[in-house]
Amino acid sequence: MKKIAMLGSGFIGRFYADSIQGQRSKDTITMVYSRREEAAVKFAEDYQCDRYSTDMEEAIAHPDVDVVCIALPNNLHEGAVMLCCKYRKAVITTKPLGRNAAEAKRMLLAVEEAGIFNGYLEDLVYAPKFLKAYESVKKGALGRILWAKSRETHPGPHSDWFWDIEKAGGGCILDLGCHCVEITRSFIGKDIKPIEVMCWADTQVKPIDAEDHAIGLIKYENGAMAQFEVSWTFRGGLDLRDEVMGTEGTIWINNFLRTGLEMFTTGKGADYVAEKAESNSGWLFPVGDEVNDLGYNHMFAEMFNCMENGTAPRETFYDGYIVNAVIDAAYKSAKTKLWEPVALDIWRGQTGLSKVSHLVEYDADHYLIKKEITHYGTKKVILKHKKTGQIVEKIIE
Ligand SMILES: NC(=O)c1ccc[n+]([C@@H]2O[C@H](COP(=O)([O-])OP(=O)(O)OC[C@H]3O[C@@H](n4cnc5c(N)ncnc54)[C@H](O)[C@@H]3O)[C@@H](O)[C@H]2O)c1
Repeated sequence: MKKIAMLGSGFIGRFYADSIQGQRSKDTITMVYSRREEAAVKFAEDYQCDRYSTDMEEAIAHPDVDVVCIALPNNLHEGAVMLCCKYRKAVITTKPLGRNAAEAKRMLLAVEEAGIFNGYLEDLVYAPKFLKAYESVKKGALGRILWAKSRETHPGPHSDWFWDIEKAGGGCILDLGCHCVEITRSFIGKDIKPIEVMCWADTQVKPIDAEDHAIGLIKYENGAMAQFEVSWTFRGGLDLRDEVMGTEGTIWINNFLRTGLEMFTTGKGADYVAEKAESNSGWLFPVGDEVNDLGYNHMFAEMFNCMENGTAPRETFYDGYIVNAVIDAAYKSAKTKLWEPVALDIWRGQTGLSKVSHLVEYDADHYLIKKEITHYGTKKVILKHKKTGQIVEKIIE
C-alpha cells in the first residue's frame, strides 16, 4: 500500500485522486498540500485524507508519506522535485516535466543523484486504446513505422496560470504538444533519436504572449517522421486523435470525441459531459469512463507496481527531459522558420542510425513498387529495373 502526498488540489490533482482511490484501490492519499487552507480542507474531506498542509515542505517531509505526486503549475515542479530529493521520497510528476529542457535536466540529474523512484505521469501513453495500438506496432503489425501523428486540441485551459507564459513556460505547444511528442515517439521507438524539428506556431485568437495554435514535424534518426497538431482555440470539445502509418499497416485512434457513445439532449438536466465539452445540449459525445479512458488507472497501477518491484516505469523523468528538449527545438524553429536540431546532452538510446532502405527486392533485376489485384481480376506488379531505372508493369499468373 502506498501512502501518497498530493501536491495541488486542482483539476489534475482531483483526476489523479479519483484514479488512485477509485475501484477499491489499496493506495491512499494520506496528505494533501494546497496553498489555500479551504482548498486543502475540501480536498482532504472529499478524498478522506488523514492530513492536509499549506506548507509544501511539511507535506513532503511527513513520515506518513512515501510517495509524492506533483499536480502543481509548471513553474513549481522543479522546487517540489528538489524537496523530494532532500527527503528521499519517491516522486511522480505530471506533465510537462519542466518549462524547458534545462529545468527538466536539473530534475532528472537530481532524482538520479538522490537515487529516488521517479515517474513521469504521461497518461496518454497508458490510455487503453494507445496500449492496444502500441502492442500491435511493437509486434510488427504495421511493419516499419514511417509516420506517426498526434493531435490534441481544445478551447483552452481552465486556470489563469496556464495563460501566463512565465508560469506555464509556453503555450499550447508545451501544454498539449508534450503529450503528442511522447505518443508519437513511443510509436516510432523510444530508443530512436529525435534529431530535428520544424514548427509553425501563432497566436491566432487569445490575447496572450504565448502561441495558441501550432503544427510541428519531428524527424527521427532512422528516417521516421512525427507530427503534432495542437490548439487552445479549437471549438467543439477535446479532440484527441492519433494516427500511425507503417509499411504494412495503419492505425487511427480517437480517444475522446466520436468514441462510439453519442447522445442527443435538449439540455434538460444539463450536467457535466466530459472534460472541455463546450455544450451539454444537442448532440453530445460523453466518454464512457474518463479516468480510465485517459489512461490514469493504467498509469498509476504501473507506477506503484514498479515502485514495489524496484523497476523503472514505462515513463520516467528521462522521458520528460527528452520531450522538453524536442519542444525547445520546436519553439526555436517557430522563430527561425528553419529545421532546428534537438539538443540532447543526455541520450540513452541508439546512435549512428541512418535512414532505413526503402528498396524492396522483387527478383535479381527488379525492385518491387506495387502489387495489386484489379477490379477485373488481373494480378499485376509494378517494378523498377535495378540498373536502368525503367519502370514496368507485369501481369502475374
Ligand atoms: N492530462 C494531464 O496529464 C494533465 C491535465 C491537466 C493538467 N496537467 C498538469 O497538472 C499541473 C497542474 O494543472 P491543473 O490543471 O491541475 O491546474 P489547477 O490550476 O487546476 O491546479 C493547480 C493547483 O496548484 C495550486 N497552485 C497554483 N499556484 C500555486 C502557487 N503559486 N503555489 C502553490 N500552489 C499553487 C492551485 O491552488 C491548485 O491546487 C500542470 O503542470 C499541468 O500541466 C496535466
